[in-house]
Amino acid sequence: MRVLGIETSCDETGIAIFDDRLGILSHQLYSQVKLHADYGGVVPELASRDHVRKILPLIQAALAEAGCGSDEIDGVAYTAGPGLVGALLVGATVGRSLALAWNKPAVAVHHMEGHLLAPMLEETAPEFPFLALLVSGGHTLLVRVDGIGRYQILGESVDDAAGEAFDKTAKLLGLDYPGGVQLARLAESGTPGRFVFPRPMTDRPGLDFSFSGLKTFAANTIHQQGDDAQTRADIAHAFQSAVVDTLAIKCKRALKQTGLNRLVMAGGVSANRQLRAQLAEMMAELRGQVFYPRPEYCTDNGAMIAYAGLQRLKAGQTVGLELVVKPRWSL
Ligand code: KG4
Ligand code: ZN
Repeated sequence: MRVLGIETSCDETGIAIFDDRLGILSHQLYSQVKLHADYGGVVPELASRDHVRKILPLIQAALAEAGCGSDEIDGVAYTAGPGLVGALLVGATVGRSLALAWNKPAVAVHHMEGHLLAPMLEETAPEFPFLALLVSGGHTLLVRVDGIGRYQILGESVDDAAGEAFDKTAKLLGLDYPGGVQLARLAESGTPGRFVFPRPMTDRPGLDFSFSGLKTFAANTIHQQGDDAQTRADIAHAFQSAVVDTLAIKCKRALKQTGLNRLVMAGGVSANRQLRAQLAEMMAELRGQVFYPRPEYCTDNGAMIAYAGLQRLKAGQTVGLELVVKPRWSL
């Protein structure tokens, strides 16, 4: 079975073709990051228009890369939510219409399910059940995964998502949007221990997160200490350590609570090197295993949507001709 996957929930147009025997046959990605950088965040109207501009050329490129004709595609999967409504509608409209024209089934995919299953695209894929830490620009979730579609949310952020906290703190440090990656780079030249930020909500039971206070803590530190280059690097270091420690503490707690010993990381923030290193060390100590997607499948992409869509199609799920997107949609 071969599925075309379409991702347009935010500011990346991602198109991929996944074959359940051969794996990923093509992976095309166009990022709108430069378009939104001047505004300090994603501008929904501009995002929709840019998806419209890019989506068909990328689909054509994906078919060419896979060396297959549209008659060899068995189904079309598109992200139906959560995300920006206009952006979602572009992918949904094109995906649904192509499936109709090709006389093939279409399936609506939950963006976070895509992220959650992205590690399945790797050679050493995790077996069910596992604990998943989903950390992106829009979500921070701890999920017990017992199989495709069998998800139990154990914890989530009560305010800012981890990636959002990275981006907002990066902005305070004078870095361009989205600053998560640059903050991580700046943190490498920071002095460990000069500043110590809190580990929010770790001193009480539970698996929820809160990251918005860290941004305020960073703002206050900048106010008190000035913002010379070394101080900014030291703040970046302290901030990143606080986020990573907090995520690690909650993962360890969730593993203990569930008795699971496999941890899967996904979403844009799972590309963070310190987070990967620290969770790998923790899982080695716990004699468990850790899995994460390759960096290009951590951030938004079409491959994870094609994969998740294929699993859903195999389970007999398809959508009708009414175009439905869900900007807010719980997993
Ligand atoms: O999953 P994703 O591409 O999009 C959403 O669904 O939100 O995640 C994007 C988020 C952004 O907030 C970005 O700053 C963050 O992931 N991110 C990182 C790193 N790479 C991406 N945050 C920290 N360290 C990184 N290396
Ligand atoms: Zn995402």
